[in-house]
Amino acid sequence: MAEEKTLREILKKIKFSDDAQVMKQLVDQSIQVKVRMGYIRRKIVVMSGKGGVGKSTTTANLALAFARAGHTVGVLDVDLNGPCIPKMLGVTGSFEIRQEGAIPPVGPYGIKVASMDFFLTEKNTPVRWKGAMELSPIWLGMFEMNVIREFLADILWGELDYLIADLPPGASADKPPVIAGFLPELDGAIVVSTPSEVAKTVVRKSIVYAREIGIRVIGLVENMSGAICPSCQTPVPLFTEKNEGCEDIALDLDLPLLGKIPFDSQIAQACDRGIPLPLSHPTTKLFDGMVTQIESFLEKRTVSIGIH
Ligand SMILES: Nc1ncnc2c1ncn2[C@@H]1O[C@H](COP(=O)(O)OP(=O)(O)OP(=O)(O)O)[C@@H](O)[C@H]1O
Ligand SMILES: [Mg+2]
Ligand SMILES: [Zn+2]
Repeated sequence: MAEEKTLREILKKIKFSDDAQVMKQLVDQSIQVKVRMGYIRRKIVVMSGKGGVGKSTTTANLALAFARAGHTVGVLDVDLNGPCIPKMLGVTGSFEIRQEGAIPPVGPYGIKVASMDFFLTEKNTPVRWKGAMELSPIWLGMFEMNVIREFLADILWGELDYLIADLPPGASADKPPVIAGFLPELDGAIVVSTPSEVAKTVVRKSIVYAREIGIRVIGLVENMSGAICPSCQTPVPLFTEKNEGCEDIALDLDLPLLGKIPFDSQIAQACDRGIPLPLSHPTTKLFDGMVTQIESFLEKRTVSIGIH
């Protein structure tokens, strides 16, 4: 299969032994990534310091909401070990490999999806364990980052209003922001957290670190913000006794809380089936509301840049 060959080629290009060549390769790639990304009006990442908090769910639903608002949308699934965006958006196709690069398949509302999943032939094997890669965690990190860079350089998105990247969970609070920094002229990051103290502690750190390395944080999404009782529809606290949310992080770090998404089995099922939530579902409206806020945040930024 053409895809398999491409991944192998990508992996073969990574030569850690020759520093000069690696440098040249990185510069060439950065230029190529910049050119390809030049046709994209807005680039956003969805990240969190914590795993399993709902980054991919948020990415998929935000992409649907941006598309519903009339935008052309692309989703970049950069999770090398657990890519799940194609499944969540019901995309079964793969890249169309051309001489110039890889054309992403199209999902609901014309959303273009690029995922490492398209390169995985053995669905149960994470990418990093393919081939002879007896790597230490440091090399593994570098390897992962190189694959992401190569991957970005090869995708032909065409013109897009919004590109939303779903970042992998970090082994540490600082890894997701570093990966986010790979996207040239990034407009900002959406950070996802659950209301659990454990998640909030790590998420705070990654927000601070993201800002330190110059990534604008657009806002916070509180996910699994209580549950909805399936029989009486009453909100039930999930993580904390009094159902405290992420307002404290938003306040302390001065960033907008874009929305509070309840834990709702319909959301999980919609993602598992790859079918968008019904338009009438309250969570659909929550995501539409987030898009309005994100857009006005980004517009304000453009105006202020224009003035100065
Ligand atoms: N609000 C929600 N209600 C119900 N289920 C949810 C909700 N948010 C996420 N889930 C479910 O929780 C699981 C984890 O969500 P998801 O994969 O989006 O998290 P993640 O942060 O992307 O994880 P990872 O760190 O592995 O990338 C999925 O099965 C998803 O369907
Ligand atoms: Mg994920
Ligand atoms: Zn009830």
